[in-house]
Amino acid sequence: MNIPLSRPDITQAERDAVIEVLNTPDLSLGPKLAEFERVFAEFTGAKYVTAVNSGTSGLHLCLHAISLGPGDEVITTPFSFSASANCALYEGARPVFADIDPETWNIDPAKIARAVTPKSRVIVPVDVFGQPADLDPILQIANKNNICVIEDSCEALGARYKGKPVGTQADAALFAFYPNKQVTTGEGGIIVTNDENIYKIVVSCRNQGRDEHGGWLGHVRLGFNYRISDINCALGIAQMKRIDEILNSRRQVAEWYTRRINDEKRLRMQKILPHCQISWFVMVVRLNDDYTRDDRDRILKQLKEKGIGCSNYFPPIHLQPFYVEKFGYQRGDFPVCEALSDRTIALPFHGRLTEQEVNTVCKTLADLL
Ligand SMILES: Cc1ncc(COP(=O)(O)O)c(C=O)c1O
Repeated sequence: MNIPLSRPDITQAERDAVIEVLNTPDLSLGPKLAEFERVFAEFTGAKYVTAVNSGTSGLHLCLHAISLGPGDEVITTPFSFSASANCALYEGARPVFADIDPETWNIDPAKIARAVTPKSRVIVPVDVFGQPADLDPILQIANKNNICVIEDSCEALGARYKGKPVGTQADAALFAFYPNKQVTTGEGGIIVTNDENIYKIVVSCRNQGRDEHGGWLGHVRLGFNYRISDINCALGIAQMKRIDEILNSRRQVAEWYTRRINDEKRLRMQKILPHCQISWFVMVVRLNDDYTRDDRDRILKQLKEKGIGCSNYFPPIHLQPFYVEKFGYQRGDFPVCEALSDRTIALPFHGRLTEQEVNTVCKTLADLL
């Protein structure tokens, strides 16, 4: 048996699109970059779009654009990929964690309210596993305290919050295109915003701090090389042409899983709030409280031995070794996150999985339980 954890959904159209770029001299900052950004402006409804070379660089640029710096605090979730918090450290700021909701697995707005201090500059809610964070109460807290919201939507392309596509309700948001994401560019990310000031900085700092008029060797501010090549953009454009098909096939696979998991008393899934429309990124189940972290780890090992790809999305960020070393975090600091992290199993998930493969995964897991 060999059922991988994830797999990109690539067709001949994507291969042709990449080859087409290779037959031109425009491999970077060319027409495919502009086209990819246009496609995203249309898809999300955002005014300004900046494609970059990863989700991490997208978040870093957004935090850089709001002039985050030493002494500032960034409120985010401990239950995410580490980049969500690391980007604060790149700018010398401090990530401050707010625990999650035990049902939705997203950051808990009530805990954010308690984490706000005079040093808070920005909230970075994460749309965990493709479900939008509950943005309205988060925006209320932000407005009341005069702090920004940068939404980490890296896992949520195609999701909707209160009917609107994620990405346009915060000050800025970003998506990522690593090959396990709904849409891939190989490596890549994109920033969407309606804020002209944020846009001006991110577009300049993506490209070494150049501005529109300064020429190739004119640098008006300190920047980075976070450019994405036109080869990657062409792949992204071809993927976006198939976005409905891609999201629908993932939804179908999610439905097959959901039916089987709902029949299994020892497992739970993430609760989807009625006003949130998830875009299926992964299939993560939570073992019930009778199981320990050791039990979960044993099950992961056994699944892998049987050829079923799986993972422990996410270990808590605050318990990553360098966070423990730098900030002295310990078990018990964010108990809701920890109880969940100890018991999650990410099962194989991508749009090309067959119903039979889903059955095999679920049957194997049930036997191991
Ligand atoms: C929630 C979240 N934030 C940020 C990132 C970083 O994206 P990238 O891997 O493209 O840098 C990821 C990607 O895995 C993610 O899942």
